[in-house]
Amino acid sequence: MASKVPFLTMIIILSAVSSGNSLSLNHYEKSCPNVEFIVAKAVKDATARDKTVPAALLRMHFHDCFIRGCDASVLLNSKGKNKAEKDGPPNISLHAFYVIDAAKKAVEASCPGVVSCADILALAARDAVFLSGGPTWDVPKGRKDGRISKASETINLPAPTFNISQLKQSFSQRGLSTADLVALSGGHTLGFAHCSSFSKRVHNFDATHDWDPSINPSFAVQLKSICPLKNQAKNAGTIMDPSSTSFDNTYYKLILQHKALFTSDQVLLDSQEGKNLVFKFAASKKAFYEAFVNAMIRMSSINGGQEIRKDCRVVN
Ligand code: HEM
Ligand SMILES: *[C@@H]1O[C@H](CO)[C@@H](O)[C@H](O)[C@H]1NC(C)=O
Ligand SMILES: *[C@@H]1O[C@H](CO)[C@@H](O)[C@H](O)[C@H]1NC(C)=O
Repeated sequence: MASKVPFLTMIIILSAVSSGNSLSLNHYEKSCPNVEFIVAKAVKDATARDKTVPAALLRMHFHDCFIRGCDASVLLNSKGKNKAEKDGPPNISLHAFYVIDAAKKAVEASCPGVVSCADILALAARDAVFLSGGPTWDVPKGRKDGRISKASETINLPAPTFNISQLKQSFSQRGLSTADLVALSGGHTLGFAHCSSFSKRVHNFDATHDWDPSINPSFAVQLKSICPLKNQAKNAGTIMDPSSTSFDNTYYKLILQHKALFTSDQVLLDSQEGKNLVFKFAASKKAFYEAFVNAMIRMSSINGGQEIRKDCRVVN
């Protein structure tokens, strides 16, 4: 028992440093002891019906944290003249908002008015990774929900066309390191990308190359057939890691084979630190998991928000 005291003290210090709304592992211990179980069940039930749910929830949490902090701004609906984040340009694959609604409804039935939508989304993202065969971790809780969501701010998300310096800048602006960037990009082991996110890399790339020379030629030919220049079907695209649906380190192996889909994936090799980490994570799933968990906890502690929303789609 005695060993518990220094451990808890350490958590309190860590959360005070990382967040204005101070986060803690036992935030709902008294006010909503079953919250983790309730959210996990909602994510599990939805995933049983639709295998695309985990990827959607992980990406949703990333988008949430990168705009105004992890404050559930991504969940708000457009209202009146205000176009919300979810209706902004990069929303192309944001979906599964209904899963958060279902989790919130179940949480409210058990403990009304105490659990933030931002915490529910952070828990759901963790559960999504675990349900996909990835690692699990304890999520610090105590986030508050924000009152502002603007489609115009989604331009501040990193773009798939970004080079390594743009990516580093986007992450460092949010207190995240290059190591966090490389580890979190491993989220691309899950999910789907539409042609619009990468097809410019394989058609008339520049004056001398039809495709981005950093792409493996046979892969470029494959991508050209998935995304023909003319007649692009609106839903055309590909699974980002076609080797499996599980949360593994194949993403890094694909980068080393020059079979990454986005410029922003392939350029992780363009800095010495990034390159070293890509090699490390490709060689060791365990090293990737450890780095991913630590980076997720840092990303999901980006502060924002001031209320506990009653309905995740509208401010109180
Ligand atoms: C480093 C900067 C990042 C860029 C430029 C980026 C860009 C993108 C793009 C363009 C897509 C495909 C959208 C589409 O065409 O439908 C995508 C999908 C996805 N991203 Fe990222 N992303 C980044 C970081 C992250 C992070 C940090 C995570 C989570 C840890 C993440 C998780 C995902 C997931 C899971 C999907 C698949 C979504 C689905 O299938 O519903 N991404 N990303
Ligand atoms: C994405 O944005 C478009 C255009 O603003 C909008 O019509 C659509 O409903 C949005 N999709 C989602 C899933 O919110
Ligand atoms: C990255 O892109 C920015 C903006 O286009 C450019 O100014 C910068 O020189 C590029 N950096 C690298 C390393 O290519």
